[in-house]
Amino acid sequence: MRSFWFVLILCFSTYPASAQSGPQFKLMPMPSSVQPGTGALPIAGSFSVDIEGYREPRIDRAVQRFVRDLSQETGIPIRNDITNPANAMLVVRADRASKPIQDVSEDESYVLDVSASGAKLTAPNPLGILHGLQTFLQLVEITPTGFVAPAVHIEDSPRFPWRGMTVDVSRHFISLDVLKRNIDGMAAAKMNVLHLHLSDDQGFRVESKEFPKLQQMGSDGHYYTQVEIRDLIGYASDRGIRVVPEFDMPGHSTSWFVGYPELASGPGPYQIERRWGIFDPAMDPSRETTYKFLDKFIGEMAELFPDSYFHIGGDEVNGKQWEANKKIQDFMRANKLKTDQDLQQYFTLRVEKIVGKHHKLMAGWDEILAPNMPKTIVIQSWRGQESLAAAAKQGYSGILSSDYYLDAMAPAQQYYSVDPMANADATLTPDEQKHILGGEACMWSEFITDENIDSRIWPRAAAVAERLWSARQLQDVSSMYLRLSAMSRHLELLGLRHRSNVEVMLARMAGTDNIIALRTLADVAEPVSLQIREEEAEKAGSIQTNDTPLNRMVDAIAPESEVARRFSQMVNQFVASNFQDDQAKSEIRALLVAWRDNDGQLQPLIQNSYLLKELSPVSQNLTLLGGAGLQALDYIDKGERAPDSWRNEQIAIFQQAQKPAADLILAVAPAVQKLVEASASTSAKK
Ligand code: ACM
Repeated sequence: MRSFWFVLILCFSTYPASAQSGPQFKLMPMPSSVQPGTGALPIAGSFSVDIEGYREPRIDRAVQRFVRDLSQETGIPIRNDITNPANAMLVVRADRASKPIQDVSEDESYVLDVSASGAKLTAPNPLGILHGLQTFLQLVEITPTGFVAPAVHIEDSPRFPWRGMTVDVSRHFISLDVLKRNIDGMAAAKMNVLHLHLSDDQGFRVESKEFPKLQQMGSDGHYYTQVEIRDLIGYASDRGIRVVPEFDMPGHSTSWFVGYPELASGPGPYQIERRWGIFDPAMDPSRETTYKFLDKFIGEMAELFPDSYFHIGGDEVNGKQWEANKKIQDFMRANKLKTDQDLQQYFTLRVEKIVGKHHKLMAGWDEILAPNMPKTIVIQSWRGQESLAAAAKQGYSGILSSDYYLDAMAPAQQYYSVDPMANADATLTPDEQKHILGGEACMWSEFITDENIDSRIWPRAAAVAERLWSARQLQDVSSMYLRLSAMSRHLELLGLRHRSNVEVMLARMAGTDNIIALRTLADVAEPVSLQIREEEAEKAGSIQTNDTPLNRMVDAIAPESEVARRFSQMVNQFVASNFQDDQAKSEIRALLVAWRDNDGQLQPLIQNSYLLKELSPVSQNLTLLGGAGLQALDYIDKGERAPDSWRNEQIAIFQQAQKPAADLILAVAPAVQKLVEASASTSAKK
């Protein structure tokens, strides 16, 4: 028995986040192996980096960026003058080049050694160097005597080779600079695929020289030129990130038809779609001219985007235009295509040939899987792990995106708990499991703009990034949240605006700098999911479009309330201590008092702003919650069990507070309810 425990402890001791827990190293994603050393390397203005071994301009630029980021991280100017390489504080050494075009088979591993006197980063190729430099930046911490990187030996490599993020730039256009800073975030989280959803009903976002009416008529002028795309791809490649383009077809394609109505299955003319949802327009799979067009178009885009994968979308075709078109129905009969799905499979097989002709591998959503499809395609599953498992059993590779939708506004821990190898995928043989390449977080942009995209992606996407990079058995949610907070601060220092833009947006709503009360409300509320928001709009008889301003509280605040999570922890701790934990109690009381009194402070602001008006009931609910919680504490303090009649009266408050209002929910309501229930339970006495 003793030796069993000894072995167990040994296993965990190289694995800080499981047993001795992560706070010592706030790394995210957690490396494969972390062995603490003795002492720490000071980070001062004299810090310098030497490059040895294989050298290419990308490594030089990465080191320059690293030094700039280290300066940013510490606020210390660092010149990186290397007069004598022997004095370099960090030595970087790669053995050889990575592939000319980065692909899924790369070795991304690295070894990072930090001691009190210097650090060394080695990797088989520059990709590992890029990752190792990010790890070094995350090691940096403030101490009473200065900034340091603690001594450590790290050996690291990813669990999955495809760790991506889908960004929808069609429903709302996202500017190049904003994409770039999010690429910086991805690099920090060691993600390696930026999948751009470049066309949909609401916009066509890339310049085509072959078919210029695509962007001229399908984008409202919001598109990336080819020069900008090349710049973006270079920027991503410098950071070890592939760019996979998606042009959704045959559905989700209204924006193509504004300039080229002959591609569609129904009569035009077409206009850019402004609403959200699934629409009827779809390409005409029965006409040879459609494939001629796609051949030219895909040829042009295959040259522009160097990645070996070309994503054709393929999701959510409702078939209505096909069913209403007599020529298409005749074509289906002549070709023995019985259903809309058969017709889509015919189309997809034709497109796959075109994609292959232009030396690309096809990727697409679940719907592209069809008999006779070559095994080289990659399925991106948005409908669940079953379809991924089914595909893998037939020998198809896939990546998981269902349950990684960031627009669902779920808490980080929910994304963190989704493993690409779990559920249906757990039934796969080891050989079949090799087909699961990883996953992608998805940022659909119905309610996303340049202003709030950072806060909808970060820091939650880092939890997905860790799931895809780190060991599967790493499951400790409190360690994850601790490291996620550090990551969140780190990302702002790198230039992301997920925190700062919240302030900017709140101040705009209030029209004043004194937003303390607004901030208090913002801190305890959470936006409802995209789905609930659309349902609420429908109930209210309003139609959300891409002309709808996204300047409300629901658009500004973080998807997950840190205060609510902290408060809930305190309540759990307090109740578990049988009301003995005085420190938890005083923290709980301070928050409850602030909430109870907040509406009085906030009402004057609400009166002055049309954007704040809708918050009035939410603010009043917060006051009621604060009052209920304080009464519960009073009962507890008096050593009296709260009467059932009083407890029952409070239930209405909790029900009200958890209903969406202004597309928000009060995230602190469940924990206040728990406190109230505890105060009324039979074991409640002090
Ligand atoms: C999708 O969510 N329709 C890919």
